[in-house]
Amino acid sequence: MGTSVALILVLFLSASWACQLPHDWRPQTEACRAELAEIIVFAKVLALHKESYSVYNFLPWQYDTDLFFSAEIELLCDQAWGSMLEVPAGSRFNVSGLGYFPCYSYSVMENNSYYFFLRMDENYSIIPHGVNFQDPIFPDTPENHRMFASLFQFSNCTAGTQVHTYTPDWELQEDNRLWCSNIQKALFEEEEKVKNLSQKVKILEKANNHLRDKVKNMKRLLRQAKRETKEPVQSFKQLHETEPVLPHPQQDTTQEQKPTLRKIIPKTLKN
Ligand SMILES: *[C@@H]1O[C@H](CO)[C@@H](O)[C@H](O)[C@H]1NC(C)=O
Ligand SMILES: *[C@@H]1O[C@H](CO)[C@@H](O)[C@H](O)[C@H]1NC(C)=O
Ligand SMILES: *[C@@H]1O[C@H](CO)[C@@H](O)[C@H](O)[C@H]1NC(C)=O
Ligand SMILES: *[C@@H]1O[C@H](CO)[C@@H](O)[C@H](O)[C@H]1NC(C)=O
Ligand SMILES: *[C@@H]1O[C@H](CO)[C@@H](O)[C@H](O)[C@H]1NC(C)=O
Repeated sequence: MGTSVALILVLFLSASWACQLPHDWRPQTEACRAELAEIIVFAKVLALHKESYSVYNFLPWQYDTDLFFSAEIELLCDQAWGSMLEVPAGSRFNVSGLGYFPCYSYSVMENNSYYFFLRMDENYSIIPHGVNFQDPIFPDTPENHRMFASLFQFSNCTAGTQVHTYTPDWELQEDNRLWCSNIQKALFEEEEKVKNLSQKVKILEKANNHLRDKVKNMKRLLRQAKRETKEPVQSFKQLHETEPVLPHPQQDTTQEQKPTLRKIIPKTLKN
């Protein structure tokens, strides 16, 4: 199941121009991603709430706010040992950042239970953790239940229980865990790079707008200056044409000299 989901994801993502993944991207197994997810919970969706805006929508022209929502969930079981989220079973909180985005969709239905990979964003909102750009929400199927129950450091999760009993399988998975942590480092670097890049784009856009304003302003000033300088030059030309024999030691029309020219010309005309 894991590979087919990953394959569909790859096809979906590669078909979509807006979702360029790093060229060395490879799908990862659920087990590996589970090791990398910050928070893993099994929870029931109690209600859905519309979100008017999402910072996770990177396409500025996608204004359809019906597409974004948050889910109010009740924690049935905290899946991982030492998970960042230290709240007891039965706690309720909102998972935001759900909905239909350019490259992916995170959707859940009311009254259903799911396994969630979650993380906290910089503002302490809890959002899905799409480790390796893959799906972080798993429906409550026997298959997913088996998978999560059998993973090293994940509990055999039913509502309200948190049983951690040792099984020999877990030693094997400890190796897997170490292997995952190498990927983790690379992955976090990649995520940071993406974050840095989008930040850079924002800064550049701002600088660009600033520059455009500056150029606009300069053009305006230039036009204004041209208008102001044109008039005296024209009147000088007209005068010059009507009085061709008028002696002019300096025909330069730079601004510093204009006042003197103006002064001189009327005088000579009066004569
Ligand atoms: C979840 O968000 C909704 C809408 O913003 C709010 O009414 C509700 O109280 C929140 N629930 C919790 C448990 O914070
Ligand atoms: C969820 O369950 C509640 C209470 O049982 C019910 O009122 C509601 O209609 C259900 N929602 C959906 C979408 O089935
Ligand atoms: C965090 O909050 C700040 C200020 O409200 C906002 O500008 C920023 O976009 C938020 N970031 C996220 C990831 O929600
Ligand atoms: C999980 O619990 C079920 C039912 O209690 C049990 O049959 C199964 O063996 C348990 N699995 C593991 C890995 O402990
Ligand atoms: C991202 O930016 C931070 C601070 O600006 C910097 O310390 C870090 O090295 C950058 N990371 C990458 C992967 O470029």
